[in-house]
Amino acid sequence: MENFVPAEPDDPNSFGPNPNEYRNWGWSGGMDRKFCLYISGQKKYTLLAMKRLLGEKEIRNKVSRLAGQISRDFAGREVLLVGILKGAFIFMADLARKMDPPVKMDFVRLASYGRGTISSGKVRITKDLETSVKGKDVLIVEDIIDTGVTLKYLFRRLKARRPRSLKTVTLLDKPSRRKVRFHADYVGFSIEDHFVVGYGLDWNEKFRNLPGIYVVK
Ligand code: PRP
Repeated sequence: MENFVPAEPDDPNSFGPNPNEYRNWGWSGGMDRKFCLYISGQKKYTLLAMKRLLGEKEIRNKVSRLAGQISRDFAGREVLLVGILKGAFIFMADLARKMDPPVKMDFVRLASYGRGTISSGKVRITKDLETSVKGKDVLIVEDIIDTGVTLKYLFRRLKARRPRSLKTVTLLDKPSRRKVRFHADYVGFSIEDHFVVGYGLDWNEKFRNLPGIYVVK
């Protein structure tokens, strides 16, 4: 390792290494801490340390409690779960399997202009629903609310399609980052302004498959 020099991100606004610059990466560690080493062909490296914020059991218990609460509120009605790709897919899969009411599922994908550096706050749908929401009981499933821009936009768009009811659930909420007013009907964990990965959440498309949620340092 003595021949390698630590890499600095090219763009001071970006977080961590540019994935195009690194040829190899690997990671290791136990339950509480994980380490990820990126190495490029130019003998540069970046070491990321990740600390566990929420473990598998804690998440599982919370998802069960949320599913119980949602099942009681929607008792006797079919629920259309709308997952926001990609981050929500693991949370939605676990939530759906704990719910009692009959459930249907669909997904949307949204893109935010300028995300990663300075967000313009403008969002568009890049993959729309394949199901009509008109007259249905709809629950939007999100992995995390940060500025609130994504969920507020989708909520407005779906509301205009006249569902019977429209509610939102998020596993994580970062209230200190809000740029627009938005409150989810069901919130798993309210967290501080950490950069988190795992359980569906990524960093440069990596770490979505971690069963727990980790803070990247
Ligand atoms: C993340 C997350 C939310 C959104 C929240 O998605 O999954 O959808 O950002 O941010 P906001 O409250 O500031 O609008 P991302 O765009 O990273 O895509 P991904 O889900 O595919 O990872």
